[in-house]
Amino acid sequence: MSMRDAVLQALKEKNGEWLSGEMLSESLRVSRTTIWNHIKALLAEGYEVESSPKKGYRLSSPPDILSPDEVCPGLACEVFGRKEYIYYQEIDSTNSQARTLASKGYPEGTLVVADMQTTGRGRRGRSWYSPRNQGIYMSLILRPVLPMKEISRISLLVAVAVAETLEEELDLPARIKWPNDILVNNKKIAGILSEVVSDMDGIEYIVVGIGLNINNQLQDFPSDLRTPATSVRVEDQRLVSRVKVLQGLLVRLERRYFDLLAGSFEGTLEKGKSLSLAIGQELKLDTINGVIIGQAVDIDDYGFLLLRDQSGIIHTIMSGEITI
Ligand code: BTN
Repeated sequence: MSMRDAVLQALKEKNGEWLSGEMLSESLRVSRTTIWNHIKALLAEGYEVESSPKKGYRLSSPPDILSPDEVCPGLACEVFGRKEYIYYQEIDSTNSQARTLASKGYPEGTLVVADMQTTGRGRRGRSWYSPRNQGIYMSLILRPVLPMKEISRISLLVAVAVAETLEEELDLPARIKWPNDILVNNKKIAGILSEVVSDMDGIEYIVVGIGLNINNQLQDFPSDLRTPATSVRVEDQRLVSRVKVLQGLLVRLERRYFDLLAGSFEGTLEKGKSLSLAIGQELKLDTINGVIIGQAVDIDDYGFLLLRDQSGIIHTIMSGEITI
């Protein structure tokens, strides 16, 4: 174990009580200056360590940082975040970074996560507001052996996993605005940006990027957002552990993803339909082929939206942007 890890472990073992600097330096057999240097490094990493000349050091518990030290010990996944967990206190965009890593051959299940993004990217060239320590900003590399036609199933399973995490872990009534937005009380709490790289043989890799607003306050959101935004804190007036939400999300993503690869999509499809805001609604859908107005009648077995237009024709749509 490195000295940094030993100092952190000793602080954690005190469960928020004071730990004397003298005792720490004796038990770890290093000078008090060395201890102080490690404390300063932990502070720079975002740990809240109080120091007092008389009492020593105390870790404000529990640290809510999305580093592997905090997330991996309680993570019940076998693949996602287990093989490669790449963490940044700050980065331009976890999706951009994950794409670079995927192009270098990083394996399926590689997780890129950050506590802040300087240029978080949304769909259609928009930006994703990503202030420090308030949300979850993560990207997963997937390398599914699936025909291109099944790719929308992945979008649906990701949306289902995000919505059910909010429902089951936090008791929030999350709904899917097909295909990529998650809303609570008609306000956007999470967005998904999936980027696919394919070749003649099919999908090479997919980077699934998820942005989830957790501890943001309403007044902090930019005023020019297309859909009004919300966060767990705005909906529920409480601060929650981002670490726990991320752990819960990764487990649900992994389970639904490997179910899909094993040929079982039925459960995800049914859950997706039941959480969908669009089905049964009259809506306007902006697609790459133009705008269609009609009624959303179903989501098919491939995760495509079925929309009946005003002349009764049913359109099968892979992606688009809904206005209800
Ligand atoms: C959208 O609703 O437009 C999609 C937003 C996706 C945002 C996430 S945050 C983590 C990942 N990195 C990015 O730059 N974007 C995605």
